[in-house]
Amino acid sequence: MKSHYIELFTAAVQTCRACKIKPEEKVVVYSDTSKNETLVDAFYNASVATGAETTLVISKAYKVPLQDPPPVAVAAMESADIVFDLATQPWLYTESTNRITGSGTRMLQVLADENSVIHRPPTEEISSRADILAPKLSGETIHIFSDLGTDFTVKRGERPVHWQDGRVINPGDWDSLAVVVAAFAPPETEAEGVIMLNGPIYLGPNLNFHVDNPVRFVVKKGRIVEITGGKEAKIINHYFDDFGDPNAKVIAHTGFGMDPRADIWAADIGNWESYDGGINVAFGGNNVSQLQGKTACRSHIDMILLESSITVDGTLILENGKFI
Ligand SMILES: [Fe+2]
Repeated sequence: MKSHYIELFTAAVQTCRACKIKPEEKVVVYSDTSKNETLVDAFYNASVATGAETTLVISKAYKVPLQDPPPVAVAAMESADIVFDLATQPWLYTESTNRITGSGTRMLQVLADENSVIHRPPTEEISSRADILAPKLSGETIHIFSDLGTDFTVKRGERPVHWQDGRVINPGDWDSLAVVVAAFAPPETEAEGVIMLNGPIYLGPNLNFHVDNPVRFVVKKGRIVEITGGKEAKIINHYFDDFGDPNAKVIAHTGFGMDPRADIWAADIGNWESYDGGINVAFGGNNVSQLQGKTACRSHIDMILLESSITVDGTLILENGKFI
């Protein structure tokens, strides 16, 4: 038997249960030629075991993120009740995601590595905790600050607070397995101040790392205008220069992680954004229905601030990385 098959299959069964798959439903397992076959087998077999009609769609793997899947694959996903998206590269911020979820299909991205799939599947306890913590973000003015010098203020405007608990239940839901995070997309010009990044940053599948020394971002009218610090600041500046799209520097979302099981030192970025009390700040594309953002961009960078605090309309909800 393939290595870790039973552990992955057991986690996939738990995920199918958490997503409340019914025998009369149609499931598409979407993957590509770069994905770990054992993981694909685990999800396909777990879905078949529910009694649901299950179709496996395998496309050629893309080398870069945020590319629309082939039209035939999108059509298959639109006609399903639920999709397990096991593609190697993320494609959340694409038109295809909106088409598929807009058709009523619920979709669970499985971008997490095998370790996270096995050790952080969706549970009732995690979902209940997220349901209590996430609504605390629902104010007008959100202030993020730290002893290190972060002093960053965003407005929420009319944008919803969206949270994820790693499962999909309702038609049109989108979520990502082992991602337990709350966030909202501030209006595009409503972010101002200084961010001192002291945790990990995701600049793309081959460029994500923890910073050794804090990197200072200055944000004016929702846009990064200055990045300074050590060698990591040079790498980040180079990334933006190389990418060349000014939308890459526009505020995309902010919020916090809520999974006490997540490990900030794990290689998997799902652990980073889910890390309990870690503050996410992202820039770039955010035009997905869940966030109601307006920025179209093929770049979406995420960073996590550690040991930082949040007030919502003056009320402290997170202090030095610990929930109040
Ligand atoms: Fe993000």
